[in-house]
Amino acid sequence: MNTPIIQNLDLVAQGKVRDIYAIDQDHILLVTSDRMSAFDVVLPDPIPNKGEVLTQLSLFWFEQTENIVANHLSNKFMLEDLIQNQSEIDYFKKRSMVVKRLHPLPIEAVVRGYLIGSGWKDYQANGSVCGIELEDNLQMAAQLPEPIYTPATKAEFGEHDENITYETTVDILGEDLANRVRNLALALYSHGVQHAKKRGIIIADTKFEFGLDENGKLYLIDEVLTPDSSRFWAIEDYQLGISPPSFDKQYLRDYLETLDWDKTAPGPKLPQDIIENTAAKYKSAYKIITGKNN
Ligand SMILES: Nc1ncnc2c1ncn2[C@@H]1O[C@H](COP(=O)(O)OP(=O)(O)OP(=O)(O)O)[C@@H](O)[C@H]1O
Ligand SMILES: [Mg+2]
Repeated sequence: MNTPIIQNLDLVAQGKVRDIYAIDQDHILLVTSDRMSAFDVVLPDPIPNKGEVLTQLSLFWFEQTENIVANHLSNKFMLEDLIQNQSEIDYFKKRSMVVKRLHPLPIEAVVRGYLIGSGWKDYQANGSVCGIELEDNLQMAAQLPEPIYTPATKAEFGEHDENITYETTVDILGEDLANRVRNLALALYSHGVQHAKKRGIIIADTKFEFGLDENGKLYLIDEVLTPDSSRFWAIEDYQLGISPPSFDKQYLRDYLETLDWDKTAPGPKLPQDIIENTAAKYKSAYKIITGKNN
């Protein structure tokens, strides 16, 4: 699906959701498009304003968590320093971040406080998640005695992420870095949970990404505690044994599960009401969590 791109900057990479432009040796412009990926396939329809919501929510959390870990944000450039066209500035302002150009670690730092999604599938098959043994007879959406770190590989384009054990991350990153990443992911999740709880939201699980600079300094990168990277449930809707209604991608995933689609590209066209409801869910996650309207 085509989303607008900035004409006079050098587009160096395109993820499923983000477009990365070169600024200089040490900085990139990270633009979050309205593209929607589900089951690792980019769908043909964008979700209006999703890129702004994800960017603004990430900025909110970056600020909240800067005493836990350094993040990739940079104030060395403003968007206005990079592009002059006013309509481009207007379109991209709230969906872009100037960030340090870092080396992303090849793992996804997933933390789960509840048993749902691939964690629930893993538990049903093995009684454990990423090698962490859990007690018997837990139900779907059960809260875990304490949050667990369940890392995954960062899959190549078109591949699916795969759950791995903590020991595998030690093989990939070395003991010291693997341990720091785990501790930071757990601390960030716990910060998010405490904030969200006051707003009536459960963060069931989430995924963080980290990157290193040339000197080996570790930074939180990418997006933080957004509806794309997390599962958000209203405390009042929470119920054991079911997949609770959510303020995130799960609404769309549940719709897609009703279709006869094999989850390979190309993805299906979405009905207008599904697009609008998804956009509204993302927007309300932002409003509830930040307390701001836009
Ligand atoms: N500060 C940074 N420096 C370098 N790379 C970064 C930085 N922040 C994020 N990235 C990388 O930019 C890419 C963002 O693109 P996007 O989120 O579309 O990725 P994706 O992994 O393809 O999609 P999805 O999040 O749906 O799995 C990721 O590969 C991420 O690791
Ligand atoms: Mg991503």
